[in-house]
Amino acid sequence: MQSIEDVRNSLVAQIATSDTPREVLKSGEIKALYGQLSSLAPEERSAYGKAVNDLKVALEAAVADREAMLDDAVVQTLDVTAPWDVNTGPRELLPTEQGTQHPLTKELEVVVDIFTRMGFEAVESRQIDDDFHMFGSLNFPENHPARDGYDTFRTEEGLIAPAHTSTMQNRIIKAGKAKLEAGGHIASISYGRVFRNEDVDATHEHTFYQVEGVFVSDKATLGDMLGVLRSFFESYYGQALQIKTQPGYFPFVEPGLEFLIEKPAALGGKPGEWLEMMGCGMIHPNVLKEAGVDPEKYQGFAWGCGVERLVMLKYGIEDLRHFESGKLGFLRKFV
Ligand code: PHE
Repeated sequence: MQSIEDVRNSLVAQIATSDTPREVLKSGEIKALYGQLSSLAPEERSAYGKAVNDLKVALEAAVADREAMLDDAVVQTLDVTAPWDVNTGPRELLPTEQGTQHPLTKELEVVVDIFTRMGFEAVESRQIDDDFHMFGSLNFPENHPARDGYDTFRTEEGLIAPAHTSTMQNRIIKAGKAKLEAGGHIASISYGRVFRNEDVDATHEHTFYQVEGVFVSDKATLGDMLGVLRSFFESYYGQALQIKTQPGYFPFVEPGLEFLIEKPAALGGKPGEWLEMMGCGMIHPNVLKEAGVDPEKYQGFAWGCGVERLVMLKYGIEDLRHFESGKLGFLRKFV
């Protein structure tokens, strides 16, 4: 016959090493201890019964300890690359936090929404493209120094990680040609990631976002463009703004302009403090021609705007590198 003490030692040792410690409580040894009750003298039974009950309570506590330890072990060996159930096992689910949208994704939605309400359709830009769309279709002559202004990443096959969303212009105009010929117009924005081989600092990143606008009709004017851009900026910053342009060179627009706004006092600006927000201009006839649209009949305007710069001004963010850093402290400010 096993003594209560023997059973205690054996079961405590099993619980301490088991992955399913609660199963150990179903052991026949405990039942056997109760079975011995009937063979005892009546005056011994009460003390014996109490000792077996005490043993059960002690074993329960050992099981609870072991389970807590196993839970900790699950957390410590969390493999973030593994499927959910590998980490949680058959136990209760791990406590988790709901993720949130990246601030740029959120602001991009605001930007797209403003242009959509103005009647622009929105398409995503590409993250890999060819020389024709990035340069050739945009009136960059072969070996022209203007290409050097866009320090691109290239694959060994000669493909390019686009350095601007203008890489979408030719496709947008081509796709809208039928609309023009039916008496309509093209009004389209393309947005997405662009890449430049830059030395990274507080105002330069190798990876950033742009929003490109293309409008073509039989009578689009520079005045229309200024109206669209003013409406956009006033809507995005929620206030009236002073705007101005100055000459800017881009081979795919003529005239080419830089678009500036006066930094609003509400965002910490001083009078006369102008910020260059984007490049823009009337689409060059060669760009229309390259897309099969007759520049004698149709004209249009285009602009390209860095999204980070918009967002930095709105929220007073001083370092561009925060956006790609993945720092939770920064991201949580935008939840
Ligand atoms: N693609 C230009 C840039 O990234 C901006 C631009 C777009 C200028 C459209 C004019 C017209 O620098």
